[in-house]
Amino acid sequence: MKAIEIRNKYLEYFKSKGHAVIPSAPLIPENDPSVLFTTAGMQPLVPYLLGEKHPEGTRLTDYQKCLRTNDIDEVGDNRHLTYFEMLGNWSLGDYFKEEAVAMSFEFLTKVLNIPVEKLSVTCFAGDEDCPKDTVTAECWEKMGIPKERIYFYGKDDNWWIAGETGPCGSDTEMFYDTGKPACGQNCQPSCDCGKYVEIWNNVFMEYFKHEDGTYTKLKQQNVDTGLGIERMAMLLQGKETPFDIELFKPVMDKLKELAKNDEIESRRIVAEHMRASIMLIADGGRPSNVDRGYILRRLIRRMTRHLNKLQIDLNELGNLIELNIEALKEMYPILLSKKDEIKEVIITEKDKFQKTLISGEKEFNKVMAKLKQEGKTTIESADIFRLYETFGFPPEVTKDVAAENGLTVNMDEVDKLFKEHQEKSKMGSDKKFKGGLAGTGEEETKYHTATHLLNAALKVTVSKDCHQKGSNITAERMRFDFSCDHKLTDEEKKKTEDLVNKWIQEELEVKFETMQKEEAVKSGAECMFIEKYPDEVTVYSIGTVSKEICGGPHVTNTKELGHFKIVKEEASSAGVRRIKAILE
Ligand code: ALA
Repeated sequence: MKAIEIRNKYLEYFKSKGHAVIPSAPLIPENDPSVLFTTAGMQPLVPYLLGEKHPEGTRLTDYQKCLRTNDIDEVGDNRHLTYFEMLGNWSLGDYFKEEAVAMSFEFLTKVLNIPVEKLSVTCFAGDEDCPKDTVTAECWEKMGIPKERIYFYGKDDNWWIAGETGPCGSDTEMFYDTGKPACGQNCQPSCDCGKYVEIWNNVFMEYFKHEDGTYTKLKQQNVDTGLGIERMAMLLQGKETPFDIELFKPVMDKLKELAKNDEIESRRIVAEHMRASIMLIADGGRPSNVDRGYILRRLIRRMTRHLNKLQIDLNELGNLIELNIEALKEMYPILLSKKDEIKEVIITEKDKFQKTLISGEKEFNKVMAKLKQEGKTTIESADIFRLYETFGFPPEVTKDVAAENGLTVNMDEVDKLFKEHQEKSKMGSDKKFKGGLAGTGEEETKYHTATHLLNAALKVTVSKDCHQKGSNITAERMRFDFSCDHKLTDEEKKKTEDLVNKWIQEELEVKFETMQKEEAVKSGAECMFIEKYPDEVTVYSIGTVSKEICGGPHVTNTKELGHFKIVKEEASSAGVRRIKAILE
């Protein structure tokens, strides 16, 4: 069964069960700078899981375009993908465990015709936060899954949350037995040997996880499910990897035909990253040096490197993109009208990077030769930095190329060197921002910094649980959405305004530094959905009052901001308030 047929059958089935079919949200979340990409079908639905009324009702279904970058380095093996499509159905305080299980079972066994013998399921084992899920286990048993194929696991396996805080709950996962031999006596769905493949996750979202690690019950009991379409297509077609299904195969075959040095991992990386780039660009993504744009840049760079490794003429790239769009057009017809734009963005970026690669790789080879001569296997940080500074060879590329050549990299000092480098170039870039070259005007830059101050102030004046949920800035005003369970009182508003103005008057310095993500988190830098940021991030701090992972730009001193005033405070969605403020 082709992926498109699985999608159609899924939506049709859930429609017949009273679900409204809603459109896929874009890969790049609208109005939410705290999240890099849409990573799950539930993400655009958070306000409704928290209790807000959805205009389409309490039963929803969709296909959602998703991008997850945590495992980007794993792409090339036989299963990891960055871009994938997730089929989902939701109960927003409507049905719960029994009906969810019954529908999942019916869809798998009656619509997709998967034999019951192929299915195993897992349920939550229970702990101090949430009891053992015997209800779901009983539902499965009633459906015909024998006890010995119902497993209980703890939070590591059977609990689902997007990021660190937010709506969450225990889940029940369905596994497909590929028929491969068991890896040992204790072979079961939780092991990684490949016998069992997870095909569907039903999350019973009834909790909210707070910043301090505690859980409270949500207003309503929800169901959130996710079924990865590529994986399902692979299993139903009896293929070994997602790269063998119709969405990838034409490109994989063409790459094989063109390659003078065929390596399957490189072909997978090219095919996967090309598809992810196509989907991102179609949704408005453009390569840049920060956040989302940086991920796209990284995807195109890796794709280019692996095209080189395969010794494929880079002039073929345009044709390959066309072929890829051809394979995807039934699923995403919009790609046809964006074909030229997509080609241009990818090819321009490839050209830029190819120049860097040529000079960088020569230099890299020299470094390697020297290491060999000295009998060493580690590239030192000074060399990593020099490759970057002089040849524009990014550290992550050095790391990749090093690994391919059996070398390791010493990243210890790299951060420090980058920091010094950034300090040096800071003055230059400040001038650029002033001249409007960075595309952000002086007023917007001020509001950008004011946003950080407001984010920090609310944690003092209202609650430490206030976190940014979105923002929107123009030259005239700022809008700031944040998590908060109540309407701000006049006193809270006044205190917040006063605190921001106090910090402005204190003439606090705004500084930034580049650091490894883990280091940034450890240092207490604020950011949501941390796993969606690249390994290396920029952290802006304002005096000692605020520290956030952010791409900038910002003013250099808070004294430039003038006077901060809240003009409106209102509800944005359930559990989220919105402040409109001006600088005067
Ligand atoms: N949100 C759940 C997941 O992504 C369904 O697995």
